[in-house]
Amino acid sequence: MSYEITKAVKDEDVKFKSPDPAFYNALGYDGMQELMYKFYDRIYDSDIAHFFPQDHEEFEEVKKKNTKFFIQICGGPSIYDEEMKGKDLDQYMIDIHKDFSIYLKSRDEWLGTFRTVLEELEIEQKIKDDFWDYLDKFSKLTVNKWPKESAYIN
Ligand code: HEM
Repeated sequence: MSYEITKAVKDEDVKFKSPDPAFYNALGYDGMQELMYKFYDRIYDSDIAHFFPQDHEEFEEVKKKNTKFFIQICGGPSIYDEEMKGKDLDQYMIDIHKDFSIYLKSRDEWLGTFRTVLEELEIEQKIKDDFWDYLDKFSKLTVNKWPKESAYIN
């Protein structure tokens, strides 16, 4: 099934791989930018909007920065490197999210929003499925607020 959100589990050793460059090749630089701006514009109207700057100009900066990351991770030019100052890209990305309380529900909303923009994107489904696989897996590593274990189960 396309766009399945698989369960995130605390302390799981999540194995993921960067998206196939076929995604970047199909969209090109401008297409990637269009997709990501559309995604963040929907995030701005979503249930997780409060995580992001409310100031319009600041939000535009987030959009630009995050778009650079997605262009790079999808095999486009290394335009995000300047932001992370020589650190490991995957670890840096996990660390950035530690400043926010990201719940399972926040991940669901984030992925659900991404799903809507991917559904509207007219490229081969298997290329989109590969990109989704990256989003589904990597997003598990951004979750840092887990449900408390029940005191009634032993
Ligand atoms: C595949 C999963 C994800 C990827 C690849 C990703 C990527 C990014 C990137 C590139 C940034 C910008 C980092 C920088 O400052 O340079 C960022 C920031 C952020 N992300 Fe994510 N993200 C993911 C999942 C999520 C999820 C599930 C949430 C849920 C709320 C989230 C919330 C945020 C927030 C709040 C910021 C900071 C925005 C700011 O600068 O104020 N992200 N993310």
